[in-house]
Amino acid sequence: MLSKLSMQTRKERELLEQIDHERLPVHVAVIMDGNGRWAQKRGLPRVAGHRAGITSVRKIIEASAQIGIQYLTLYAFSKENWQRPAGEVSYLMGLIEEFVLKELDTLSKNNIRFKVLGHMEELSANVRTRLEEAIHKCQANTGMWFNVALNYGSRVEITDACRTIVRKIQQGTLDYAEIDENLISDHLYTASQPDPDLLIRTSGELRISNFLLWQLAYSEIVITPVLWPDFRKQHLLKAIIDYQTRERRFGKVINP
Ligand code: IPE
Ligand code: IPE
Ligand code: MG
Repeated sequence: MLSKLSMQTRKERELLEQIDHERLPVHVAVIMDGNGRWAQKRGLPRVAGHRAGITSVRKIIEASAQIGIQYLTLYAFSKENWQRPAGEVSYLMGLIEEFVLKELDTLSKNNIRFKVLGHMEELSANVRTRLEEAIHKCQANTGMWFNVALNYGSRVEITDACRTIVRKIQQGTLDYAEIDENLISDHLYTASQPDPDLLIRTSGELRISNFLLWQLAYSEIVITPVLWPDFRKQHLLKAIIDYQTRERRFGKVINP
């Protein structure tokens, strides 16, 4: 066990050495996918994959803070995920509640700032209470922002922004001429945060599933076949190394 542990650390150390710490992605967003397939491969119920995925969540939060990532956004539950079987949905909600309860002290001690992206008011009172406690407890922290996208849908987020902007115009607190891209960004759940530099999707799916549609306009995308419950620090490091090989052009010609 110990040798396996130190081997893994050596691997991580080797990968860490390949990273240019001056060019880290500031914001990393992750579509955590493949929990169900991970469980099915082992002949286990899908929910076993969700439980195993919690370990990955803990490790990736910790690793991101250690590496020096400033914003980490994890997609935990989409608006569309309510269409799953009721038992799976309630298990997932229970896991989220348990995670926040167990990890709150660690988040707080690691100086992590915490934000929920999504409609919290539609969650059960238990889950909401836990999340509100966590937001409150991490309020004064100054370290990495950890966003959890929970009951999140990007189209709903954009719709919410439109509604707020129109209401402000009707109330006379905003002028039509002030609407620009920055104003729209400032009305999204990620207001005041930079757009993700790097999007990682696990389990090999080639789609974005209604995640941060506006914010991902120029993100670099890394798709890994690794299923979320198997995703560890070394996979995050590999994704960052891949990201650092990319030439980000933003529509321009580099070295004309
Ligand atoms: C991701 O794993 C977790 C959530 C969407 C909540 P899935 O449950 O989507 O796993 P697969 O894609 O069915 O393997
Ligand atoms: C996206 O995964 C949502 C989350 C990771 C929370 P899904 O498994 O729900 O996405 P689809 O259905 O494969 O597009
Ligand atoms: Mg999936």
